Amino acid sequence: MRITLTPVNDENREAVLKLSVREDQPFVAPNSRSLEQADELNAEHPGAARPFAIYADDKLVGFIQIVFAPEAEDPDDRYWIWRYMIDKDEQGKGYGQAALEEIIKYFRDGGADNIYLSTEPENVVGLHVYHKAGFKDTGEMNDDEMILLLKL
Ligand SMILES: CC(C)(COP(=O)(O)OP(=O)(O)OC[C@H]1O[C@@H](n2cnc3c(N)ncnc32)[C@H](O)[C@@H]1OP(=O)(O)O)[C@@H](O)C(=O)NCCC(=O)NCCS
Repeated sequence: MRITLTPVNDENREAVLKLSVREDQPFVAPNSRSLEQADELNAEHPGAARPFAIYADDKLVGFIQIVFAPEAEDPDDRYWIWRYMIDKDEQGKGYGQAALEEIIKYFRDGGADNIYLSTEPENVVGLHVYHKAGFKDTGEMNDDEMILLLKL
């Protein structure tokens, strides 16, 4: 099984919009909202928001959206995982962990020296996956969300 990250484009956009998580996973915004927010951020800072479709071999299984803004003045604002989900029918098959490894590689190859993200303390599976990938709790909160950091 090979995981690839493909920028969201005219060919995969409709399919990405159909991906969803379970009702008991209120930890991520709908992909429609994420893509709107990407357009909004990119209108001000072109290229800063980068949405990707996650493929396992040829099958679309999820979505991950990052902020990649090396020009941001504050080093803590430059590199973020903003959204990350595996479709409810494709969870628990190892795709989430593998996609996270790919996106970490993407940041590293792009010259990033850190990656931030935030999630709710109740997101036990999300936190497990992040901790396993090396993210550490910073002790800081973003509203109700814990902020995690991976130093590259
Ligand atoms: C978090 C998420 C992306 C993980 O993707 P996934 O493909 O299901 O995860 P994987 O199959 O790669 O599993 C990774 C680890 O989580 C564990 N896991 C996955 N689903 C689980 C579940 N429902 N209950 C308990 N553990 C679970 C796996 O056992 C594995 O742990 P291990 O390697 O120690 O055995 C996915 O659960 C998801 O989309 N959740 C809803 C959205 C979300 O919370 N996004 C993050 C917001 S910040």
